Amino acid sequence: MIAGFDTTATGLVFSTYVLATEPEVQKKLQQEIDENWQENESDYDSITNMTYMHLVVREVFRLYSFAGKVRIRECNEKTIVCGHQIEKGKRKINFYYLEPRIETDEMY
Ligand code: HEM
Repeated sequence: MIAGFDTTATGLVFSTYVLATEPEVQKKLQQEIDENWQENESDYDSITNMTYMHLVVREVFRLYSFAGKVRIRECNEKTIVCGHQIEKGKRKINFYYLEPRIETDEMY
């Protein structure tokens, strides 16, 4: 039940932020929606035709990291990581965020 709620809500927040701070993008997107929108008849196909909307959504996904990956790892043998002793068989839950800087930072 939790899957999809937080990601969708946060995605909408970042999309709104981008549209509020990029008036040209907002204007172009509004134009595309107006051209494709049919009152009471808009369906999945009309949304599929909105190519600029897809580009905007993809760019928001690229710029902002709002989804992560959860992975469980089990220690195979007793070891020390950064001064912390970890016993064999100990499980650890890792939560990773994708790093958007990799695509925006000049260093890369
Ligand atoms: C912008 C919207 C969304 C984003 C960015 C997103 C992102 C992700 C990511 C990155 C994962 C993989 C997590 C991992 O590997 O640990 C995932 C898994 C999942 N998402 Fe989403 N999600 C979105 C919307 C939704 C929606 C709307 C639903 C359901 C209605 C949903 C259901 C799920 C489920 C069930 C999984 C687990 C799949 C599995 O067991 O492998 N997600 N999502």
